[in-house]
Amino acid sequence: MNHTQGSKVSIIGAGAVGATTAYALLMRGSARTVALMDINQAKVDAEVLDLAHGSQFTSAASVIGGTDAAVCADSDIIVFTAGAKQKPGQTRLQLAETTVRLAQKVLPDLVDVAPNAIHVLVTNPVDIVTYAALKATGLPPNQVFGSGTVLDSSRLRYLVAQHTGVAVQNVHAYIAGEHGDSQIPLWSSATIGAIPLMNWTPLPGFPEFDQTVRDEIAHEVVHSAYQIIEGKGATNYAIGLATARIVEAVLGDERRILPVSTLATGFHGIGEVCLSLPSVVDRRGCDVRLDTPLSDQEEAGLLSSATTLRGMIEQFGL
Ligand code: LAC
Repeated sequence: MNHTQGSKVSIIGAGAVGATTAYALLMRGSARTVALMDINQAKVDAEVLDLAHGSQFTSAASVIGGTDAAVCADSDIIVFTAGAKQKPGQTRLQLAETTVRLAQKVLPDLVDVAPNAIHVLVTNPVDIVTYAALKATGLPPNQVFGSGTVLDSSRLRYLVAQHTGVAVQNVHAYIAGEHGDSQIPLWSSATIGAIPLMNWTPLPGFPEFDQTVRDEIAHEVVHSAYQIIEGKGATNYAIGLATARIVEAVLGDERRILPVSTLATGFHGIGEVCLSLPSVVDRRGCDVRLDTPLSDQEEAGLLSSATTLRGMIEQFGL
């Protein structure tokens, strides 16, 4: 059975990320119905029309929209993108006050109209908003998770592929921890094909892949969003595609390994906090976290990331 038959994905927020996610879902044929919800009636109506006018060129799908939670009724997945835009130079954590309060306000109504929906939080700071959503909805942890470092890991893979001259699909590497400044690249478990990246021998014409290169790439990943926001005001394409990929893993019951943000309590002594670790995503959402081996440096970095996030959670009394 085609997994998109009857599937409904609702996107909360018709801004750049929400609208691009809707576009990605339609272009990839990820869902049968795509719903957009936004408080701005004119904006959501315009986005729905603009998307619907391309229906001839996509797989069969309906696009609907509205300002009320009713438009999300019986959703299989609810993608939460609503919230404040990150301004040039602003950190994702500085958005927390606005976006946490918004999620706490909107999510209960969404649970009422779609009690079985899997919630994928995208709004930043996504790890804090994911934790707030878990508390606000009261849903089982597998049913609520965040896009986390799926996008950061995609950026990392792109940069490694560029530097080593291989296809990005053959780079297996993860960013873990906060989707933000304290994120950690898991170099010790990264591979290209079946070769550990730490033992990589450069292909002819390509440079060494040493610690200096790894540090430069890690720095570029952390600063990617700042660079893009400085230039165009927001990031939207890659996060839209990453979110569509997550949606497909759920709807297709793929058991796909993705570094989504989930309640990581107990992993290497981590407290009650949401952060990203390679985990299995399927029709139940995400309830299996892999025991990815960590170097001592990676474990220390992850615990530091967890401490940063825990501090924010306590600051907001979540
Ligand atoms: C970024 C946003 C989604 O990293 O946080 O592009």
